[in-house]
Amino acid sequence: MRTPIIAANWKMNKTQKEAKVFLKELIPLISDAECEVALCVPFTGLAVVKRMVKGTKIKVGAQNVHFAEKGAYTGEISADMLKELKVDYVIIGHSERRQYFGETDESVNKKIAACLAKKLRPIVCVGETLEEREGGLTEKVLERQIREGFRGFKSKDFDKIVIAYEPVWAIGTGKNATSEDANATIGYIRQVLRKYLPKSISEKVRIQYGGSMNSGNVKELMSMPEIDGGLIGSASLKAEEFAKIVHYGRA
Ligand code: 13P
Repeated sequence: MRTPIIAANWKMNKTQKEAKVFLKELIPLISDAECEVALCVPFTGLAVVKRMVKGTKIKVGAQNVHFAEKGAYTGEISADMLKELKVDYVIIGHSERRQYFGETDESVNKKIAACLAKKLRPIVCVGETLEEREGGLTEKVLERQIREGFRGFKSKDFDKIVIAYEPVWAIGTGKNATSEDANATIGYIRQVLRKYLPKSISEKVRIQYGGSMNSGNVKELMSMPEIDGGLIGSASLKAEEFAKIVHYGRA
């Protein structure tokens, strides 16, 4: 009932030239994709990627946005600027932004609001660090990130929202969460959503898994009932590998 979504997060990778080479290779490889596919690329690549995916079903996303409408925020990009480029998705609250750029649940909340006001779809990242996990705090941390991150939003806002569960210890480490573990934790996230939303809404929100997902483990992860897709970092940088992920491991 929930359409799976496989999204690439290129992080700070690929110039426009490199993006073009990637897309020329990728587009024919995934023309038969059964899931929704999105490419979340650096700001500088948005226009060219958007142009190249024209006529395909591939969606395009940014990796951050500022929460203010406009103003004296040197170096920042507004939701209006993304909307003008016809961007579909925006990753919000990625753990790298929380860790290196001071992103908090509060700024995540404001950024989601900025996206929704312009009809951009936020992909909201949540996840525990290794320390939190080992301290038995995973559920507590996730509950807080959901409660604070989504504070004040209405049921209908969740039509546009995708959640990505990305355990920080699994990102870029080659150590993915087991499918059972990811499934159970995503199940817990949905349980938290049920506290705040009517069942008809909470059951529709798509929750992806992210963290060392690749063509070798995607099939098993995607076979789990709670996992509605993936947010893929390093394995999304090579067209052939990413295409395999889109096909759940098949070439
Ligand atoms: P990796 O796939 O490189 O572990 O990164 C995951 C991620 O952070 C996606 O947002």
